[in-house]
Amino acid sequence: MERLQKVIANLGYTSRRKAEELIVSGKVKVNGEVITELGTKVKTSDTIEVEDTILDNNRNYEYYLLNKPREVISSAKDEHNRKTVVDLIATKERIYPVGRLDYDTTGAIILTNDGVLANKLMHPSSNVEKKYIAKVTGLVRGYEIKELRNGIIIDGKKTAKAEVRLKKYDKKTDKSLVELIIHEGRNHQIKKMFSSIGHDVVKLKREKYANLDLTNLKPGEYRKLTNKEIAILYSLIKKD
Ligand code: URA
Repeated sequence: MERLQKVIANLGYTSRRKAEELIVSGKVKVNGEVITELGTKVKTSDTIEVEDTILDNNRNYEYYLLNKPREVISSAKDEHNRKTVVDLIATKERIYPVGRLDYDTTGAIILTNDGVLANKLMHPSSNVEKKYIAKVTGLVRGYEIKELRNGIIIDGKKTAKAEVRLKKYDKKTDKSLVELIIHEGRNHQIKKMFSSIGHDVVKLKREKYANLDLTNLKPGEYRKLTNKEIAILYSLIKKD
């Protein structure tokens, strides 16, 4: 038996404090009955409903953040038998990556077996913030940074507004380092954005996905998400 607010938080629905607010305001049902008393104990066989969503109390969900190395494919299986992001994580659960990073792109990627969260995060309307660092050929000039910021036509459609800044230009190698924060997740988006203004991406790293950055994770390393991080991801998808 566990306290209702703890169970709601552990299932990743929201924080414990928010769960308490939801209980008090009559938004939580246990076995179909509204429960407003904090600290009510529930068992795994109880059906918990929060704001009309039934939480799966028996689920075995896992959530990981991986710093994807180069030369690893971001799918659960590869037809050419290349190493996948799933191969890097020691678990018996059938997890899969949330979205994709290219074979040669490194950085933050979530893996989970929580299909509801994964599908909502991957949906084009989710607008999750992604921060990339791109090393590109040539000097990216001020007017080009503005174009990247305001939107560039790729695959016949303009990209949404983005935050873009030139971090560095190395004259010797003639390469620029550019930071981009985008909210879309179109296919090869960063590479296409640069290629349409005449620069090739030679290195690409996703430094941040939503609230998750690469602190303490070297390429190939991963960790489990905390309940708080899972709750934040859920709060992002609940807006739409
Ligand atoms: N944009 C790309 O071009 N590639 C990635 O892997 C991610 C974003």
